[in-house]
Amino acid sequence: MRITMIGSGYVGLVSGACFSDFGHDVICVDKDETKIAALEAGKMPIFEPGLDTLVASNVAAGRLRFTTDLKAAVAGADAVFIAVGTPSRRGDGHADLSYVFAATREIAEAIDGPVVVVTKSTVPVGTGDKVEEILTELAGDFPIAVVSNPEFLREGAAIGDFKRPDRIVIGTEDPRAQQVMRDVYRPLYLNESPILFTGRRTSELIKYAANAFLATKITFINEIADLCEAVGANVKDVSRGIGLDNRIGSKFLHAGPGYGGSCFPKDTLALLKTAEDYETPVRIVEAVVQVNDTRKRAMGRKVIAALGGGDGTSVRGKTVAVLGLTFKPNTDDMRDAPSLAIIQSLLDAGITVRAHDPEGMEIAKTMMPDITYCGDAYAAAQGADAVVIVTEWNIYRALDLKRLAATMAAPVMVDLRNVYPPSDAERAGFAYSSIGR
Ligand code: UDX
Repeated sequence: MRITMIGSGYVGLVSGACFSDFGHDVICVDKDETKIAALEAGKMPIFEPGLDTLVASNVAAGRLRFTTDLKAAVAGADAVFIAVGTPSRRGDGHADLSYVFAATREIAEAIDGPVVVVTKSTVPVGTGDKVEEILTELAGDFPIAVVSNPEFLREGAAIGDFKRPDRIVIGTEDPRAQQVMRDVYRPLYLNESPILFTGRRTSELIKYAANAFLATKITFINEIADLCEAVGANVKDVSRGIGLDNRIGSKFLHAGPGYGGSCFPKDTLALLKTAEDYETPVRIVEAVVQVNDTRKRAMGRKVIAALGGGDGTSVRGKTVAVLGLTFKPNTDDMRDAPSLAIIQSLLDAGITVRAHDPEGMEIAKTMMPDITYCGDAYAAAQGADAVVIVTEWNIYRALDLKRLAATMAAPVMVDLRNVYPPSDAERAGFAYSSIGR
């Protein structure tokens, strides 16, 4: 198969590299010349475990290429995937589809034969209909099918998720397009990953419903964690106790500082906008968005309380070490990271912040220039009045707690990811607090 991937960001690059690894002939397109030049030189624009070697081996095998020339890349393709960004539109929270439609118009001008155009970007219900309208109007002479094929990969585990998905969702009722998509994913369904064929609108909604459900699960356990703290229960045991029920499932029940990242915050908002447009409110998701937003600042107050502040007592002049800045481990992605809101509330209280993150500091420096960035966890904790674990990177799971405590002005730890058993931290001399325990 000849596959063209429009957009070489997170989803486009991972999907393109994985498709080429299946044996397809893949060309990834991007407008950003610097990005394409870097990719051609073997440099990855994002941090994703395993991506560099996957790209290198498929480039070497001649199956994966990069270009800025969309027109040449689309000519002769069996399937053209649109994997451009759909950020939240400033002001109203709707998904911004301008990149999707711009790419569609360029594809229309380049089409030179029958082709299947696939939206892999997360797009609101009805976007496929509009893409089809544009293509039919501008390139109507050839048989064109528009398919929705959402992506469910998680940052940090993206290649594994792509190659061993729980399911593949393909939204089209066109038999020719269904066959092309079967051929595209043949290596996966030979591995028994189920393929679900649905209508296009249904497929578009599945993506939003999946992300909203996962965001709901996280937010649910976060509120139960607060209740655990109030009644003296342990949220880790509650998670296990309910998660062992197959109907509930154990995943996405880790209480923490609230979800962040490039998908859940944006996609929950976009789903609410669709619901509003169709006058069919999804009230549970409305509550999830609101609870998650307020939670991040509440985490800042939790740290201030651990320092003895709040209720009129000032913590001005104290120093806090923040461990982990990215929205989750194994990524350098800072988008909607809980650390941003937590650190802001600490700065607002007059606290000095020293931080460390294994991959996120370069990007974080551009977003939070007013904090001190340190070489490792121990350096960050030097002279601090409290250390806060915000992101559960593996290197923070096996800290020498006695050494950490010894470098601090006061050994206080706020563990927002429940990384440590309380007894371990207390044995090392910490005044320790965590989430829901
Ligand atoms: C998510 C979806 O998992 C993926 O299917 C979709 O394609 C894109 O959005 P991603 O944003 O990469 O992927 O991260 P994910 O691992 O889902 O975590 C999202 C956020 O939820 C993170 O901030 C994480 O820390 C938080 N989270 C996750 C929890 O707080 N508790 C959990 O139990 C799980």
